[in-house]
Amino acid sequence: MNAFKTLDDADFAGQRVLVRVDLNVPMDNGAVSDATRIDRILPTIRHIAGQGGKVILLAHFGRPKGRDAKDSLKPIAAALAAHLGLPVAFADDCIGAAAGAAVAAMTNGDVLCLENTRFHPGEETNDPAFVAALAANGDAYVNDAFSTAHRAHASTEGLAHVLPAYAGRTMQAELEALDKALGKPVRPVMAIVGGAKVSTKLDLLGNLVSKVDVLAIGGGMANTFLSARGLDVGKSLCEHDLVATAREIEAKAKAAGCTILLPVDALAATEFKANPGHRVADVGDIEADEMILDAGPKSVEAVTARLQTMQTLVWNGPFGAFELEPFDTATVVVAKAAAALTKAGKLVSVAGGGDTVSAMNHAGVGEDLTYISTAGGAFLEWMEGKPLPGVEALKKSA
Ligand code: 3PG
Ligand code: MG
Repeated sequence: MNAFKTLDDADFAGQRVLVRVDLNVPMDNGAVSDATRIDRILPTIRHIAGQGGKVILLAHFGRPKGRDAKDSLKPIAAALAAHLGLPVAFADDCIGAAAGAAVAAMTNGDVLCLENTRFHPGEETNDPAFVAALAANGDAYVNDAFSTAHRAHASTEGLAHVLPAYAGRTMQAELEALDKALGKPVRPVMAIVGGAKVSTKLDLLGNLVSKVDVLAIGGGMANTFLSARGLDVGKSLCEHDLVATAREIEAKAKAAGCTILLPVDALAATEFKANPGHRVADVGDIEADEMILDAGPKSVEAVTARLQTMQTLVWNGPFGAFELEPFDTATVVVAKAAAALTKAGKLVSVAGGGDTVSAMNHAGVGEDLTYISTAGGAFLEWMEGKPLPGVEALKKSA
């Protein structure tokens, strides 16, 4: 039993269905450079169109302040049509006459994309008048954008209160996967948290130590923890003003029975570039002019050995500066180990947030974990244990 309605609870034939999707995709020179988010929404669009519903897509792009041609969804709607293999009509506004006329012109099974919802200030303020203007074009609302669910905006939250509301296929899969990872996980559970800064992940670390059995910390933020344990991390990225906070997190972990795994060795270099001269050094043996740029082989061995004894893994953020070779090594080796255990049916593995999707793709395990979330901020807020407004609104509507 889901706490929210899904596409299985609806018959959309002949209905105008407002579908909130995440088309905030990376662009390079006007072309979509990573279509993962586009591919993820295709099942929902095909389901509704196949049932004879009119699919009216709502989405944002970028963070425009008012109407701004560079943030138009038009090129992305064209890319979507190519992936979908169906025509996708486009309207220059998401409310008002342009939207109304485009919706009126639809026949059952058609797909229409409306212009960037953030061209209207009422989107981000969740203005009831703007919600009503959007709702005027729909008989039902489907939210298939978990990655925008941390925003209480008109198209991500407000609409769920005024129209019959359903989770789309991707939203549903995402929530089911996340529930398996942290909601009701099979224990023991390991979390891997990497990335540059402790300061951006304080709430996340604080929540995880009370939920997981083992927390492996990597990336620049591990240096802050090493420094808090009294080690000299040389020129490494380190938030020296947060060592007290790092000690508090360690104390909270200890009290909760959560083991924190920090790197015991590192790949260290004096320059931040690809393939510099580098060496493997114990973390107690970093020179004043050296930077820790990746976890070393003993650390990787310690994490992968622990992983063998885990039932569940939730992963956010790389171990090292994975965009620069060879500092992708720890991330790649651990990702491959997680993928192998998952394939063997021994591990439920969920990864997401920020750089994590590209790190997993880089490691070649994009298809091999239980679930990889395309969400950035929403995944982090979920890891922080915060209720996501877009998801809460779907539950209320059920
Ligand atoms: C994202 O790309 O993370 C989502 O689309 C949310 O975008 P936002 O951070 O601009 O709200
Ligand atoms: Mg974001």
